[in-house]
Amino acid sequence: MSHLDHIPSTPGKFKMEKSYNNRMRWHSSLTKLTFWSFIFIGVIFLFFYRSPASQPSTTHPEPSDPSRRSLRTSSWGGPEWEKRVRTSARIRSRNGFSVLVTGAAGFVGTHVSSALKRRGDGVLGLDNFNDYYDPSLKRARQGLLERSGVFIVEGDINDVALLKKLFEVVAFTHVMHLAAQAGVRYAMENPGSYVHSNIAGFVSLLEVCKEANPQPSIVWASSSSVYGLNTKVPFSEKDRTDQPASLYAATKKAGEEIAHTYNHIYGLSLTGLRFFTVYGPWGRPDMAYFFFTKDILKGKSISIFETQNHETVARDFTYIDDIVKGCLAALDTAEKSTGSGGKKKAPAQLRVFNLGNTSPVPVSNLVSILEKLLKVKAKKNITKLPRNGDVPYTHANISLAQRELGYKPSTDLQTGLKKFVRWYLNYYGGKKAVSR
Ligand SMILES: *[C@@H]1O[C@H](CO)[C@@H](O)[C@H](O)[C@H]1NC(C)=O
Ligand SMILES: *[C@@H]1O[C@H](CO)[C@@H](O)[C@H](O)[C@H]1NC(C)=O
Repeated sequence: MSHLDHIPSTPGKFKMEKSYNNRMRWHSSLTKLTFWSFIFIGVIFLFFYRSPASQPSTTHPEPSDPSRRSLRTSSWGGPEWEKRVRTSARIRSRNGFSVLVTGAAGFVGTHVSSALKRRGDGVLGLDNFNDYYDPSLKRARQGLLERSGVFIVEGDINDVALLKKLFEVVAFTHVMHLAAQAGVRYAMENPGSYVHSNIAGFVSLLEVCKEANPQPSIVWASSSSVYGLNTKVPFSEKDRTDQPASLYAATKKAGEEIAHTYNHIYGLSLTGLRFFTVYGPWGRPDMAYFFFTKDILKGKSISIFETQNHETVARDFTYIDDIVKGCLAALDTAEKSTGSGGKKKAPAQLRVFNLGNTSPVPVSNLVSILEKLLKVKAKKNITKLPRNGDVPYTHANISLAQRELGYKPSTDLQTGLKKFVRWYLNYYGGKKAVSR
């Protein structure tokens, strides 16, 4: 959607008229033939350009820059490709699952895929490798998964033909849907990307899931941001979520409502997980703990936010391994979908869980821990939290996940950051030496 918005609505016509005026004076029929051949090729070209299979990615940081619109066509299909898909999704343990993981080259997606594979489940990844953040990090994660036998298909969740094909090749028992446009502030730059991935993409995935026979059970990533301006802490699943503070939050909230609809109409088993500030090795570079680390090491000043009334901003930081356990437990306790061939047979399971750590930490403490681990003093710039989407405080009530999933986070921020910093220095160590 993001890049399609900038193409004239009738591109073929637009080109024809323009060229037609230039070529009015050409009378030779041969020239005319050549001219119309060009138009024909142009129309074919535009057709492929706009077809879903060739949508290069969900995000374009500068959507108005036409040079960024790549014409990459997806290269899926064929017997070799199908064999790779089948092999990756093959179950290797008794009562194992075969899971389609969307966003598999993402932070949580990589860790969940790897954990599933380790315990003998079949895993197939799907990712569009968009450039919202450094795609080379996604490629490195892909390499990691490839070495453990997980194949990531390169494609977009809006590509219904591809999704259908995947379900034709593999009868997935579960879908772990983690593909999304993340980030709170980027929504002001590129709102279309959030609608494309978090709403249109989710619907396209659910459409294919509801038609599949058997229908898979679906676990998907919602977000703690749905609590928005809710001030009652700790946040509990029953609290109001009708005051989102960012478009990101609004699209995640929309996802929860869409999940309700597909559960209600088609009998899809759906579990939404509201993640609270997930961090750890292989994390996302757009998150504070990550770019603080980078900037502290560079000697660059970091902005620490406080609220309008000088209160500290705090986050319920949740370590990736705890999140992975929660995701696996959600898959393990997911009941089967009840529909088939697009028809509901009986009521199906619909759940939503907080996955947090239950101990909010002020961002200033996060910085002190990083300073100690990196052995570098941070240059701090205390500024007011902009009113553009970030909420001052998050704190999860996880008693529901504890009861239903046996979820029990066990990593505190100090321990988790130590593991992150070790990974960071190891991963970027070599590159930093080069760039200095
Ligand atoms: C501190 O942050 C404010 C607001 O983000 C910015 O305008 C200012 O330049 C920053 N100061 C330093 C020294 O980085
Ligand atoms: C947490 O949520 C449960 C319901 O899931 C509720 O019974 C409990 O009182 C909540 N705890 C707090 C501290 O709000």
